[in-house]
Amino acid sequence: MAKMEVKTSLLDDMIGVGDMVLLEPLNEDSFINNLKKRFDHNEVYTYIGSVVISINPYRSLPIYTPEKVEEYRNRNFYELSPHIFALSDEAYRSLRDQDKDQCILITGESGAGKTEASKLVMSYVAAVCGKGAEVNQVKEQLLQSNPVLEAFGNAKTVRNDNSSRFGKYMDIEFDFKGDPLGGVISNYLLEKSRVVKQPRGERNFHIFYQILSGASEEFLCKLKLERDFSRYNYLGLDSAKVNGVDDASNFRTVRNAMQIVGFMDHETQSVFEVVAAVLKLGNIEFKPESRANGLDESKIKDKNELKEICELTGIDQSVLERAFSFRTVEAKQEKVSTTLNVAQAYYARDALAKNLYSRLFSWLVTRINESIKAQTKVRKKVMGVLDIYGFEIFEDNSFEQFIINYCNEKLQQIFIELTLKEEQEEYIREGIEWTNIEYFNNAIICDLIENNQTGILAMLDEECLRPGTVTDDTFLEKLNQVCATHQHFESRMSKCSRFLNDTSLPHSCFRIQHYAGKVMYQVEGFVDKNNDLLYRDLSQAMWKANHSLIKALFPEGNPAKINLKRPPTAGSQFKASVATLMKNLQTKNPNYIRCIKPNDKKAAHIFNDALVGHQIRYLGLLENVRVRRAGYAFRQAYEPCLERYKMLCKQTWPHWRGPARAGVEVLFDELGIPEEEFSFGRSKIFIRNPRTLFKLEDLRKQRLEDLATLIEKIYRGWKCRTRFLLMKKSQIVIASWVRRYAQQKRYQKIKSSAIIVQSYIRGWKARKLLRELKHLKRCNEAATVIAAYWHGTQARRELKRLKEEARRKHAVAVIWAYWLGLKVRREYRKFFRANAGRKIYEFTLQRLMQKYFLEMKKKMPSLSPIDKNWPARPYLFLDSTHKELKRIFHLWRCKKYRDQFTDQQKLIYEEKLEASELFKDKKALYPASVGQPFQGAYLEISENPKYKKLKDAVDEKIIIAEVVNKINRANGKATSRIFLLTKNNVLLADQKNGTIKSEVPLGDVTKVSMSSQNDGFFAVHLKEGSEAASKGDFLLSSDHLIEMATKLYRTTLSQTKQKLNIEISDEFLVQFKQDKVCVKFIQGSQKNGNIPTCKRKNNRLLEVAVP
Ligand SMILES: Nc1ncnc2c1ncn2[C@@H]1O[C@H](COP(=O)(O)OP(=O)(O)OP(=O)(O)O)[C@@H](O)[C@H]1O
Ligand SMILES: [Mg+2]
Repeated sequence: MAKMEVKTSLLDDMIGVGDMVLLEPLNEDSFINNLKKRFDHNEVYTYIGSVVISINPYRSLPIYTPEKVEEYRNRNFYELSPHIFALSDEAYRSLRDQDKDQCILITGESGAGKTEASKLVMSYVAAVCGKGAEVNQVKEQLLQSNPVLEAFGNAKTVRNDNSSRFGKYMDIEFDFKGDPLGGVISNYLLEKSRVVKQPRGERNFHIFYQILSGASEEFLCKLKLERDFSRYNYLGLDSAKVNGVDDASNFRTVRNAMQIVGFMDHETQSVFEVVAAVLKLGNIEFKPESRANGLDESKIKDKNELKEICELTGIDQSVLERAFSFRTVEAKQEKVSTTLNVAQAYYARDALAKNLYSRLFSWLVTRINESIKAQTKVRKKVMGVLDIYGFEIFEDNSFEQFIINYCNEKLQQIFIELTLKEEQEEYIREGIEWTNIEYFNNAIICDLIENNQTGILAMLDEECLRPGTVTDDTFLEKLNQVCATHQHFESRMSKCSRFLNDTSLPHSCFRIQHYAGKVMYQVEGFVDKNNDLLYRDLSQAMWKANHSLIKALFPEGNPAKINLKRPPTAGSQFKASVATLMKNLQTKNPNYIRCIKPNDKKAAHIFNDALVGHQIRYLGLLENVRVRRAGYAFRQAYEPCLERYKMLCKQTWPHWRGPARAGVEVLFDELGIPEEEFSFGRSKIFIRNPRTLFKLEDLRKQRLEDLATLIEKIYRGWKCRTRFLLMKKSQIVIASWVRRYAQQKRYQKIKSSAIIVQSYIRGWKARKLLRELKHLKRCNEAATVIAAYWHGTQARRELKRLKEEARRKHAVAVIWAYWLGLKVRREYRKFFRANAGRKIYEFTLQRLMQKYFLEMKKKMPSLSPIDKNWPARPYLFLDSTHKELKRIFHLWRCKKYRDQFTDQQKLIYEEKLEASELFKDKKALYPASVGQPFQGAYLEISENPKYKKLKDAVDEKIIIAEVVNKINRANGKATSRIFLLTKNNVLLADQKNGTIKSEVPLGDVTKVSMSSQNDGFFAVHLKEGSEAASKGDFLLSSDHLIEMATKLYRTTLSQTKQKLNIEISDEFLVQFKQDKVCVKFIQGSQKNGNIPTCKRKNNRLLEVAVP
């Protein structure tokens, strides 16, 4: 059900009627009864169209919670039951989304809940608008300005424990997104008379009590105050304590709020100093003092208080004291000083206190504005909240009530203007014919008060400015003259004879018939209050104060700026500010909250019909309803209307496809609603009579019940059917699963049985086959065995037969051979003895030789010439043959070996062979030389640059180049020489530089001598008489003696074709120049290792010791 109806409506679950426009019948009683009924059900809000009536519940209701804020957020105005949040939301959204500046006008009498309402609006807007650190700070400052202003501007009155004693209009500024940017506060007419005097049962402004209760001792001491209310004349004593109000904790709240708003510490301090000074001013008392001229002059009784005030405010005490005793009047550049009597002194004191306080209050507002003002210059959207004193009708009504009621007249006027204008505009917008509505226009009353020539305020100003004696009575007289004929003005003295007998009107009073009722004003004090005089001496004294705040509060006290023109009167100031306010409000879209107070006792649950009736009357609420429903009581856009009632007609239920308006037309036609009862606007349906709407509502309710039953029926059917289908489906599923399971089981059983049977059969078959195969195999084996046996038998038989046959054949052959032999022997016996012996011997020898050679072939040694192996000789008779064969084989393999040599190798071996022939077994040095290859050129003459000269000198091929030792013939010592052998010569050269020492042609070499021992000494003997022989023979020694001697021998042979004589002997003669010396080789000790040593023994003997 709830789901089907997406949108709710104000009309749902309504207690009484939520919108007074729907009230039927409409009269004061039914109006009050409806409010009462709703009030009793805790419904404190009721609409008149878009106006919210709020009744003060005097107790906290759970309807301002964050959940409620969410509930009302972004909902249409008529969607939910009436609430201040609905109005706030509507205003905020049209400000944000439609760019329309808004104002919220909250009116009602004192204690009706205006200030609370304004705070609720602000907190709602703060809750729904944007968030973020900066925005939150702005919100917080805006909200915290309230406690500050309430502490200084509110007081307990008999009507309200927290009565606002000033009017407040606050513009909250938003950016295009709807985030708050800041605000501007305007204050109107603080009730400053309260500072010096309070009516019975009332209190001064809260702040005085808060300081005295909440400030620390230290702070009080600083302010020169005492924590005792009774010490201060300005504090009414009978109700210093208010039930349920904790002044001390409120003081802390205020100080905290001041800090949040942005007051500096020194500013806060100054503010409290001024408050203390005001409080202390009340304690200054005067006494009369007679003067010589017979007049009384006032004197301050106790100067202590004055002194403290001056210390607190930095005012020169004498200046202030004089200002309380004298008054200087300046006229035409003349200063006249007159003394003040006691009454005048008190007047001056009170005037100073009032001015000080009211200026402080205005300064506070300015200071707060400075803090909360928007920081940007972008275009702002504005929401104004006006919390201004409501209509006041007291027993004694004075100038203040007059001013307040004037303000309310003005508000009523714009209310009527705007409401009617709006209504008319809507009719025009919707294309509905406009019929003029009769309503009371209070412009005439406003004119009575504010008319520039004949208005009461103008006349009051005139009186105040008039020279001569001016009293309240002269003012009344003037009123009587000018306004007597006015319909709404009454006074005892008025010339209008109608009222002459009106004894209810005292002499010093006049009565105005306000739109909200008649109010009687006492003229007493009008002139004074309008003048609002503060003696110039006092303002100058204040300006001289050494206290920046006080100085700033009294700019007119500056003598440099002296202004002889009178300051504007209170009345004209107020008129001007009200005019500005009205102008401001007219540019904005108004939203009204009409606050009503249910009883005078500030008590919950009490609804005083008379009191409420009175308020309804003076707020003009009935009038309001009448205007609202002058044409049509109810209107609604087509879409929500069709949505709400579409179930009442078959064509529109459940869906209407066409435009909403056509749907509504069909609907109304179907329902048979008389044509005069409604009218179709462009976007809305207008219903003339609430009765029609209620009829629709009743029908809807009935239909909804039917529909609910239908839905329930269908739902139940659907639910049962769905359940049934679900069960059926489940049953099928379960059954199929069970069947499947059973079949599976059965199948598995059959399958396993089949497998068992199959395996048995297969086993049986296999065994049968096996048996058959085994039988077959046995048969085959048996056959094979039999065959084998048979074949064996056959073979053995055959073998036996063949053996028999062979034996027989052999026997035959033997017999035949024997026989043949016998025959041959018989025949050849006679020749045998002569030849047989030699033939057998030859045959045997041939056989042995054949065997010998075949075996030798197998046992041949390797082809290496040095292999000494040779097979052993088998038969003695072959000894020579065996040796010969060995020799032949050796020669053959040597030849084979030689055949492999190259020419160069052949040369080397030839040399080696030559050496062997010359020295083998002759010289002990020889065996060691066999393994050494003959190199010849041991010295690389051509490579070494040292021997270049030597190389150049020898152009033949060098056969030997070697370093030898030449033995000195004188002492046997050795010197190194290069020994060169070329094709034709033997050369000796210096080893160091290669210079040739001796050169001997080979033909001149006759002999070479050497020992048989293991030494390298040799002598080269030269031909006697030859050129070379003149120096004698050479005695040399070399490591390569064998090679050198061999090569010398071979070269000599090839060049001279003569064999060189090589003598090997251990003693030989050597020709040294003229002498012949014997060289003798002896066995030496091994003292010097293996090196032989040579020593000259005497002229004829050179001894060589060979180890
Ligand atoms: N909506 C509300 N819920 C609970 N209590 C309320 C509500 N509105 C007002 N009150 C109570 O009524 C008292 C008076 O309300 P409020 O101060 O707003 O009156 P007012 O119309 O501003 O009066 P004044 O003209 O004297 O300033 C509040 O202190 C509070 O106790
Ligand atoms: Mg208030």
